[in-house]
Amino acid sequence: MLFSFIGFIKFFIFVTNKVKMDKYKVTFKTWNKVASLYEDKFMELNLYNPSYDAFCKLLKANAKVLEIGCGPGNITKYLLAKKPNLKILGLDIAPNMIALAKKNNPTANFKIMDGREIGNIQVRYNAIVCGFYIPYLSKLECCNFIKDCCKLLSENGILYLSFVAGNPNDSGYKTGSNGDKMYFNYHNLKDIKSNLLKNNFRIVEQIEVNYPINNIDFETHTILIANVHST
Ligand SMILES: C[S@@+](CC[C@H](N)C(=O)[O-])C[C@H]1O[C@@H](n2cnc3c(N)ncnc32)[C@H](O)[C@@H]1O
Repeated sequence: MLFSFIGFIKFFIFVTNKVKMDKYKVTFKTWNKVASLYEDKFMELNLYNPSYDAFCKLLKANAKVLEIGCGPGNITKYLLAKKPNLKILGLDIAPNMIALAKKNNPTANFKIMDGREIGNIQVRYNAIVCGFYIPYLSKLECCNFIKDCCKLLSENGILYLSFVAGNPNDSGYKTGSNGDKMYFNYHNLKDIKSNLLKNNFRIVEQIEVNYPINNIDFETHTILIANVHST
């Protein structure tokens, strides 16, 4: 009886882990597949430029910047146009995104890497930029991510974070027009803010952008810019 109970628990853990793994596998595969489509749609989009300007204003001309979930390098390209001496390293899980980011930014560095591994990076950065990366992290992963960012930033380091604030219970698979699926996480704004504060960040700016999803409706996108304050 006891053996079968332990067997059941083991089986339950196995199934839970498998579902979790598949969620990432499916999402990463889709990002790799849609890299060029994403580039076409977002490379020149100027909707978020005021928020990039607000972030860029806080950076020294030759600051070391880490971009996580860099996609085709659209944010890096914008930042380098404003401050060409920034030293930027961009990370993304999707090889096709990294190939496009390199093509779009010959003076920056890029690497294929799972953003959930940033805790292993030994170098310190003056700033970290994450455009719509945390929608692909669970609540717990997002807490760890903010903790890791605090460790990776030098004194007074700046963090740029954009996401779609909402009820985490609404998180789930979204299917694109071509049938490809991605697992999308909504994060509670209050939770993100309190996590930032817990990890020594001070929120410098909060910006809300109305992103049109069709001719009538829009979705609110939130951008937080924060700095690590010295204790
Ligand atoms: C919505 S796109 C954002 C691209 C760009 N930062 C922007 O704001 O337009 C999300 C990007 O995050 C990447 N991504 C998702 N999960 C990741 C992970 N665990 N590690 C690294 N990159 C990830 C995807 O491959 C994709 O390029």
